[in-house]
Amino acid sequence: MKTVLLGSVIVLSTALPALSQEQARNESAVQLPDGPGKAIVQAACVQCHGLDRVAQPIGNTPQGWQIVLNNMVGLGAKITPDQVEVVHEYLARNFPDRAPKPKLVAGAMEVTIREWDVPTPGSRPHDPLVARDGSIWYAGINLSILGRFDPKTAQFKEYKLRPKSGPHGLVDDAQGNIWFTAQQGHYIGKLNPKTGDVTEFKLSHPDARSPHTPILDPKGNLFFTTSGNNFVGRVNGRTGEMTMVRQGPNPYGILVNSKGVPFFTLYGTNKLGSINPDTMEITEYTLPNPGIRPRRIAITSDDVIWFGDYARGYLGSYDPKTGQYREWPTPSGPDSQIYGITVANDVVWYNESGVRPNTIVRFDPRTEKFQSWIIPSGGGVVRHMMPDRNGNIWIAGSGVNKIGVVEVRSVIRTASTGR
Ligand code: HEC
Repeated sequence: MKTVLLGSVIVLSTALPALSQEQARNESAVQLPDGPGKAIVQAACVQCHGLDRVAQPIGNTPQGWQIVLNNMVGLGAKITPDQVEVVHEYLARNFPDRAPKPKLVAGAMEVTIREWDVPTPGSRPHDPLVARDGSIWYAGINLSILGRFDPKTAQFKEYKLRPKSGPHGLVDDAQGNIWFTAQQGHYIGKLNPKTGDVTEFKLSHPDARSPHTPILDPKGNLFFTTSGNNFVGRVNGRTGEMTMVRQGPNPYGILVNSKGVPFFTLYGTNKLGSINPDTMEITEYTLPNPGIRPRRIAITSDDVIWFGDYARGYLGSYDPKTGQYREWPTPSGPDSQIYGITVANDVVWYNESGVRPNTIVRFDPRTEKFQSWIIPSGGGVVRHMMPDRNGNIWIAGSGVNKIGVVEVRSVIRTASTGR
């Protein structure tokens, strides 16, 4: 029933037949506390996953449970509006918020975080994209939606993909097409937003599944990882021809450096890799501590690689030119689960996803200073982020069904140093 991708992301494959209620109950073996609402939960919350998903030890805030229930109804949970109220009260009382709390760092930068609900509950906006025309896109992985948001008018437009496509990551090309990895449909897609037409590129290796993150190189070729499935691939932007090579464990975040060379993380171990874009030859770089698990990736203009060490709670940097590795403990500590990360104007931004509410953290490599803020909605795990032309950071809150922007407003000057 559950497909477990290496490294703690659990995707419930809606492609598989649903468990009977009884099977699901047996599987989860969870004893729910008594009280009004228990019977409804036992009946309405077991078609797609076990009750262990509901009776989470870290619980949720009342606001968080409301969002979860909206999402579950959007996904097809059969409960009536008055049952939702009873269930909400039951869950909020019996499974209160026990998640680790963030430790914030004050600093000189002033930001405003604005968020918008995406139109369809349960979409689970996974990766955001700032397109060249300034529009914002997101991959609604659970309902196979690609969404477009116009920041000027705050209007959304949704594109429905083939059911069970499960779009994960996005990138736009110079012609305005939106390329995406269909994680559950096992293809690379290209959406023409003017016509709504989707071109599908079948994964060329018979063993390859679940494409993860795509990126375009300056020549217009698309590179991608397949995460738990251990391949990296390339789609020739002109001919559509695909080349795939085995590479693991768990190739994950991928970005192209200033020389046009794709670099990726190996989230299943303490390594990074780079791809010769012409020959597909892979070079591996081993990070010094065997416990490091680099997840997403960012690159500064000096071609230094930045990543969150998801396992240990460190921000890491690695310079492939010199082999120098450096790391800094993230403010909220070892359980911070650093996830989405990006660079804007050579400053690093990332999300601490293991704390509730999630944070946005800013790290300036020049001063080596951190500053952090709470995401108003709680964030619900920000899996990816991307800067726009003004240096504002766009985020997608997968669990809260929102997209948002971190608007960098100004630097508060202090008297002596300016920082
Ligand atoms: C129609 C299928 C379906 C039903 C019915 C359903 N869920 Fe879910 N639920 C999902 C899916 C799919 C996910 C996984 C989302 C993901 O991680 O991509 C999920 C995840 C969750 C999560 C984890 C939330 C998160 O953001 O990780 C909770 C909590 C949850 N469900 C509670 C419930 C409750 C309570 C009910 C009953 C009211 C319910 N579910 C009924 C499909 C369903």
